[in-house]
Amino acid sequence: MKKILVTGGAGFIGSNFINYMLKSRDDVFIVNLDKLTYAGNLENLKESEANSNYTFIKGDICNFELVDYIFNKFGIKHVINFAAESHVDRSILGSEIFFQSNVIGTNILLEAARRYQVERFLQISTDEVYGSLGPEGLFTETTPLSPNSPYSASKASADMMALAFHHTYGLPVVVTRCSNNYGPLQFPEKLIPLMILNTLGNKKLPVYGDGLNVRDWIYVIDHNRAAELVWEKGNPGHVYNIGAEQEMKNIDIVKLILSHLGKTDDMIEYVKDRPGHDRRYAIDSTKIKTELGWKPEFKFEEAIKNTIDWYLSNNQWWERIINGAYKDYYISMYQNFYKHK
Ligand code: NAD
Ligand code: DAU
Repeated sequence: MKKILVTGGAGFIGSNFINYMLKSRDDVFIVNLDKLTYAGNLENLKESEANSNYTFIKGDICNFELVDYIFNKFGIKHVINFAAESHVDRSILGSEIFFQSNVIGTNILLEAARRYQVERFLQISTDEVYGSLGPEGLFTETTPLSPNSPYSASKASADMMALAFHHTYGLPVVVTRCSNNYGPLQFPEKLIPLMILNTLGNKKLPVYGDGLNVRDWIYVIDHNRAAELVWEKGNPGHVYNIGAEQEMKNIDIVKLILSHLGKTDDMIEYVKDRPGHDRRYAIDSTKIKTELGWKPEFKFEEAIKNTIDWYLSNNQWWERIINGAYKDYYISMYQNFYKHK
């Protein structure tokens, strides 16, 4: 049995990962440590909660004593660190919690991993650490780090600390840098779920700047399969980019969502741009493909429709969010962050 500490497993990608792992294999015991911030939701784990190979602990990765207790009690030998503050806009409004959870929290996990001599530490990172691309080119693992937002700067710091633990102490660290994820269970502050729910709620769809920024989209299950592979077979001390070669302009995604939901483009509202807004991300995944044999299975055109349909048929999931934390968030973002052009 592989005893894995998965952190941030009640969030979007972490919960999809745990559900996927427990469905597809029986040789893992997963301890999910999550602080249950606004983005953490135990409902995401309904299908896993009764599994005897799973347990949940509410807590903060910055809590040294708790982290130490978990490693000791469960005999943890693997760490997969999803826990993070993950939203760029929130990091622009206030950076402290990003430094705390993303940098200090990762460091506390790394120190515990060193004390308990773990067999593998997977740091889940992001393509945003590379900065922004012009119209040409792709991020490779050797692209210099050039993070532009407080969020991406905190993720880059955590990556460097993790890799330093490999270099200095020989800790078997692997790092993945993935592009923008979409799929079920994503908190509706990120582009795709926000636009779906605003369309369903007959609200305006706030497109930042000229809407021509490009992101490289990957279905969350493809990311999960890649993370699993890197965790098991990745080369210690190495970084693996993950992307599905599905570049899209924001405005085209917004129009696609409107059209799939039978609405017209006059719901779009161009608003003031995100400060420091990265223009384009695009990932070269050659390394994970050739070294580890991974390839994405989901095509954007199909998977985005499935994602929209998931939100359509899971209204109880998002209505609870919309009527709780999200409501205040939306009003505050609308009044304070992006003003009308
Ligand atoms: P999310 O915001 O949906 O979930 C984050 C989870 O971490 C939440 O459950 C939250 O409660 C938990 N958490 C936050 N701070 C914590 C702390 N101090 N201690 C314990 N738990 C804490 O994020 P996500 O989109 O699922 O992203 C997961 C990871 O993947 C992050 O590290 C993010 O940087 C990375 N990533 C995300 C994307 C993307 O497109 N969403 C792409 C590449 C990489
Ligand atoms: O690239 C990976 C990263 O992708 C992850 O590391 C982050 O955790 C994740 O949040 C995501 O970051 P982005 O900033 O790219 O995602 P977001 O969904 O916030 O925005 C996607 C694009 O859409 C970006 O160009 C900003 C734009 N946007 C976003 C929102 C929320 C809008 O135009 N309007 C909006 O309301």
